[in-house]
Amino acid sequence: MAADILSVTDNRTGQAYEIPIEDGAIRATELRRIKIAEDDFGLMSYDPAFLNTASCRSAVTFIDGDRGILRYRGYPIEQLAEESTYLETSYLLLFGELPTSAELNRWTDEITHHTFVHENVKGLMEAFRYDAHPMGMFISAVAALSTFYPEAAQVDDPENRLLQSKRLIAKVPTLAAWTYRHSRGLPYVYPDNELGFAGNFLSMMFRMAEPRYAADPALERALEVLFILHADHEQNCSANATRSIGSSRVDPYSALAGAAAALYGPLHGGANEAVLRMLAEIGDVRHVPAYVERVKAGEVLLMGFGHRIYKNYDPRARIIKETADQVFEVTGRSPLLDVALELEKIALEDEYFVSRKLYPNVDFYSGLIYEALGLPVAMFSVMFAIPRTAGWLAQWLEGVNDPEQKIARPRQLYVGAEERDYVPLKHRAGGELAAV
Ligand code: ACO
Repeated sequence: MAADILSVTDNRTGQAYEIPIEDGAIRATELRRIKIAEDDFGLMSYDPAFLNTASCRSAVTFIDGDRGILRYRGYPIEQLAEESTYLETSYLLLFGELPTSAELNRWTDEITHHTFVHENVKGLMEAFRYDAHPMGMFISAVAALSTFYPEAAQVDDPENRLLQSKRLIAKVPTLAAWTYRHSRGLPYVYPDNELGFAGNFLSMMFRMAEPRYAADPALERALEVLFILHADHEQNCSANATRSIGSSRVDPYSALAGAAAALYGPLHGGANEAVLRMLAEIGDVRHVPAYVERVKAGEVLLMGFGHRIYKNYDPRARIIKETADQVFEVTGRSPLLDVALELEKIALEDEYFVSRKLYPNVDFYSGLIYEALGLPVAMFSVMFAIPRTAGWLAQWLEGVNDPEQKIARPRQLYVGAEERDYVPLKHRAGGELAAV
């Protein structure tokens, strides 16, 4: 067996180097030894968008994108979606093991008793315009929580970290539901401690005058499954944002507000919103072929298709498709489902999508379920943020505990102007400048 060493020759100097390979990777800092002169900075690797750079060691989530495998702490997502609950899964993500029955009871009790938010949060919600996007409100509200819990800044204290983590998991559904109630001009509904995690969320969303809101058990379970599927996804854009912001040792509310902002974008968690808008624009199965042609011509993206990691069917999309069927049994079938099924059918057979390995991702069907649950499209990315809070926290905790981590600070390849002298205003040539 050959040694785990990469031998490189720098043809600029003829110098040979041996770089250790560990866990299938070389350390980028090893490249710095490769220099053309003593005062040379050393070789860097250039990797825009981190296509081939591992930024951490992680034991939280495993993905094999080619084989369509997703596991939290080793447990296949299919088994968790079938057997687990969101709160049990969040425990697994944070602590690394499934809880015993006593541990789960305690965890459930603690999360349940942290669901209330400070009354001033209502004032914060009311400060937003009636048509404010719920995700903008959600991001702001998560950031604002750090001002209610100033002790959260003590990120080196493990007990404190755990307390803030519980608060975050417990309070995000309350914040999320209140953004919706605000947009409808409806009174905010307080948490109901007798209900489960998903049931309580649905109650805070939809309860009106009834003493207790009872969600349809099939819909409650469907939401629970969606929460499990969305709980973590290793080093995606928002997890990376959590770790990067957290690496400055800021409090977790601020780090997670940044993560939620990353999730808001249409290429990440905003995709489910974009899928529904796309399906509504297509409108009818007959218009699908023409739309696919526009995608192939590069005019539009097929939202909910493609993934940086999965070059196979996203395993979450498969489970969500089954969940959608169960939801539609209760709520009735969405006419847009037929458009989605036809799109998927054509895309899975078409050379453009096949050759690029573009398959439905988690967002292709989730929006249809949210719509069937009565949620407006603008709430979809907020729905993603609720369970992803557990994943962000697991990533954040791992990051702040990792002795190898320092403040995240990538290098750049500077391509700007060389040093030049300041030109007084009266001597400058006119002309419109393009935005840089
Ligand atoms: N529709 C049409 N073509 C696509 C799509 C799509 N949805 N996704 C990728 N492609 C094409 C690209 O144009 C490119 O074609 P080319 O080789 O001819 O230039 C090729 O497939 C490779 O795509 P990249 O953009 O290089 O893939 P990347 O890994 O950078 O992007 C991403 C992944 C952002 C998810 C992309 O597939 C996309 O924009 N999808 C639509 C948005 C979406 O659904 N996002 C949700 C992702 S899942 C999540 O965050 C929860």
